[in-house]
Amino acid sequence: MIYLDNAATSWPKPEAVYAAADRALREQSGNPGRSGHKLSLAAGRLIEEARLLAARLFGVSEPERIVFTASATEALNLALHGLLRPGAHVVTSSAEHNSVIRPLAALSAEVSKVPADLAAGVDPDRLEAALRPDTALVAITHISNVTGTENPIREIGALCRARGIPFLVDAAQSAGAAPIDTEGMNIDLLAFPGHKGLLGPQGTGGLYVGAAAALRPLKQGGTGSFSASARQPARLPDRYESGTPNTPGLAGLAAGLRYIAEIGVGRIRAREAELANRLLAGLATIPGLRLFGPPPGPTRAGVVSFTLEGHDAMDISFILDDSFDIAVRAGLHCAPDAHAAAGTLSAGGTVRISAGCFTTEEEIDRCVEAVGEIAG
Ligand SMILES: Cc1ncc(COP(=O)(O)O)c(C=O)c1O
Repeated sequence: MIYLDNAATSWPKPEAVYAAADRALREQSGNPGRSGHKLSLAAGRLIEEARLLAARLFGVSEPERIVFTASATEALNLALHGLLRPGAHVVTSSAEHNSVIRPLAALSAEVSKVPADLAAGVDPDRLEAALRPDTALVAITHISNVTGTENPIREIGALCRARGIPFLVDAAQSAGAAPIDTEGMNIDLLAFPGHKGLLGPQGTGGLYVGAAAALRPLKQGGTGSFSASARQPARLPDRYESGTPNTPGLAGLAAGLRYIAEIGVGRIRAREAELANRLLAGLATIPGLRLFGPPPGPTRAGVVSFTLEGHDAMDISFILDDSFDIAVRAGLHCAPDAHAAAGTLSAGGTVRISAGCFTTEEEIDRCVEAVGEIAG
């Protein structure tokens, strides 16, 4: 099987990730931060190591500001429901995922959507023009999960900081695949999945909560700390981490983070760009095929979307899976506004191919050949 759906979840994982999750279940399986025995302490150490590694990767100087969640979706919900009051004014873009769009709708937020260019992303000048004195948040995706377009996060962060507006970045497609420096980029809230570019198991993710963003917790409950009090602790990360955590998942995530630290995000980014460039060049030779997103380049993200004249996107992905054993994704990819901008909404979206750091050149070539055969 050729797996080219890394934007949904990465696979395969480094061997160390499987081993770490297995070891956590067998040998480090106490309830972390609850009991004082060896198994509980071992589990607690695993989680704090994952926190430290994530803090290092994202340029966070206070690791306790990394809060673990079950997914990027849960992290985005914590940020949005924790920060905003109903009806708040929020500036976002036409590239956002439903995990931002839907919480904002549930909050009846007043949303100003800045159009995101398919190749260049959000124009900071247009974003600046949308800011108001009562803007409560700017929420922008770092890299589009439909087109692979990167947004100018550093420039947008500077605009937000100058006005004292909290800045939330959805790093679902960039964590582990592009450099992120929360403090240097003026990011107040960074939502990330553990199971995509960070190479951890599903059921992991997190939110960096900066000092400027005081959030209400999504849930209350046992934290193993301040147990005599009926009030949720103020201390981080306990404030947002009630309940028994996903220790085996976080052990795997720590192993994924260690792997990334060894290889380096710069090398991973260059590798994914090489693969995306090869894919774009191959697909561009197929008659009737239309590509979306930025052109090839040294930092081109691994996400590539296309449509093929006369063929339904869902049919292409089904044939790729059924006849060629190639796993891709078709449809709207939970980002309907991006398809409205690309003109692919009514046709049911695009076929998305997403290489990962373990994808090979041969796999890319076989995928291009298969799409060519379908087109023919
Ligand atoms: C841009 C973007 N945001 C958020 C998410 C949600 O991530 P998760 O699956 O970890 O909830 C995704 C997942 O595909 C995504 O691509």
